[in-house]
Amino acid sequence: MEDVVRLRVAIDSFVYPDGTAAMHDIRIDVKNGEFVGLLGSNGSGKTTLLRIIDGLLKPSKGTVMLDGTDIRKLSSKEIYRKVGLIFQNPDDQLFAPTVSEDVAFGPLNMGFSKEEVMARVKKALADVEMGGYLDKSIHTLSFGQKKRVCIAGLLAMGHEILLLDEPTAGLDPMGEYKMMGLLVRLNREGRVTIVMATHSVDLVPLFLDRLYILSKGRLVRSGSPEEVFTAPRDMEHVRLRLPQIAELIYKLKHEDGLPFEKLPLTIGEARREILRLMENAHA
Ligand SMILES: Nc1ncnc2c1ncn2[C@@H]1O[C@H](COP(=O)(O)OP(=O)(O)OP(=O)(O)O)[C@@H](O)[C@H]1O
Ligand SMILES: [Mg+2]
Repeated sequence: MEDVVRLRVAIDSFVYPDGTAAMHDIRIDVKNGEFVGLLGSNGSGKTTLLRIIDGLLKPSKGTVMLDGTDIRKLSSKEIYRKVGLIFQNPDDQLFAPTVSEDVAFGPLNMGFSKEEVMARVKKALADVEMGGYLDKSIHTLSFGQKKRVCIAGLLAMGHEILLLDEPTAGLDPMGEYKMMGLLVRLNREGRVTIVMATHSVDLVPLFLDRLYILSKGRLVRSGSPEEVFTAPRDMEHVRLRLPQIAELIYKLKHEDGLPFEKLPLTIGEARREILRLMENAHA
């Protein structure tokens, strides 16, 4: 099951009606159970790509295959049964008057009983730490709270594949870590396949298996975080940067001559490398 390709994206081009050529030559395979990141600066094409994968936009030239079928041949209902998309802006997604009504909308439409829907709504809101907000009016929520409610709405439906457009943008630091923890649990324990757009370079190496870097509508690099985050210059090229801890170690190695072997991407890896260097210095 692990190696089964769920999504096969082959977009030769996508042009918006105003003539903006937003995608060129995109090839992405997403396998069952993967947690894949789309990393790119503002305007690099992340949202466009997720909307094409979800069938909301049609590539000018190219195809998106979902479980081996061209999504053009699927009804939107058939796509949404398997794939859920979280919009970048929660105001584009939320529409019901209250939090619980909004989160209940998806599961109600899927035909679950009232009791099942209520259980799903409560569980999903608890998962995103919004359990106390069931009757709260949507328009009174803060931006980060709206974002959490959007994610709860998707969790309550239980999709096999989630497309997340910057799910942590606007969340506070603890909320960001908790949200990523929740997504990782969904992915590892719930076997949910996830494609997530982000420009949060510090978070990526902690949580993602594989990433694609987008720049000006093209894929410029792909691989594990170790393969993709190499030198500051490569990242500046695509208007990104290394994770801050990696930037520090890179400078200590290349500008101050400290003998680091590899470039740590997380605080944990950096700590181990520094302790190893100190032990060697005392030996
Ligand atoms: N509806 C539209 N009509 C015309 N051009 C558009 C439209 N939506 C996006 N674009 C353009 O397509 C390109 C890619 O935009 P997109 O929103 O996909 O980028 P993004 O990587 O999601 O950026 P951000 O990090 O700011 O969310 C940009 O040049 C943008 O101006
Ligand atoms: Mg976007």
